[in-house]
Amino acid sequence: MNSKEIPLNERIILALDVEKPEIAKEWVKKTESSLGFYKVGLQLFLAGWFDIVDWIIDRGHKVMVDLKFFDIPETVKLAMTQLNDRGVSFATVHGNDPIIRASLAARDGGDAGLKVLAVTVLTSFGEEDLRAMGMTQTIEDLVFFRAKRALELGCDGVVSSGLEAARLRQHLGKKLLIVTPGIRPGANVRNNDDDQTRIMTAEKAIVNGADYVVVGRPITRADEPLRVIGEMQDEIDMGLEKRSPS
Ligand code: C5P
Repeated sequence: MNSKEIPLNERIILALDVEKPEIAKEWVKKTESSLGFYKVGLQLFLAGWFDIVDWIIDRGHKVMVDLKFFDIPETVKLAMTQLNDRGVSFATVHGNDPIIRASLAARDGGDAGLKVLAVTVLTSFGEEDLRAMGMTQTIEDLVFFRAKRALELGCDGVVSSGLEAARLRQHLGKKLLIVTPGIRPGANVRNNDDDQTRIMTAEKAIVNGADYVVVGRPITRADEPLRVIGEMQDEIDMGLEKRSPS
């Protein structure tokens, strides 16, 4: 049923976008009966540094360190090396070929547990954001171009919205990990003043080929977070069934 043998409790990566490690720990304790994969991003990493990463891993969970490295190749290589050999599962990078290659050289010098994901185009970006940055391609074409390059260079996976996941899965094969943020329960089109633009339900993202969904506020701002997690996991199950060949 589940092509990469990913347990259901690891399909949702909970984005711990909180200002203090103590709050992150409360979220882990509150959700760990249902979840086993957490994301430490810029805010929490700056607040809790490696102590919070180690704490989550020591409790037996997986961690995605989402610092989206972007710098000259040597600096990215040295930064990525800091994530090696400490049990981190996923790390993120973006940039051109030399930057991606540098991050992969760091990964390959480590304990083989770290997977490098290339960020394609942030899920908060819309077409007009690309135009404002002087880019002429459509988002879909740019995501595809970057994901294809990332795969050819040896990345383990990419971060993309669910909207592009179908094309990536169809043309880039099964091996590529697709990690999808911008998940909004009950919404496949943007309908509020959310900063996320390219949004989708967990079910649709999974049907489209995502392996993991990254979810923050829909869970952390919910009145009943565990109920939202349960409903999303039901959706993921349905999505997996819909996409498997019958
Ligand atoms: O709260 P929300 O569900 O929008 O959180 C999404 C998370 O995914 C945030 O932590 C954000 O940094 C992250 N992310 C993203 N788009 C990417 C990569 C990561 O939204 N392309």
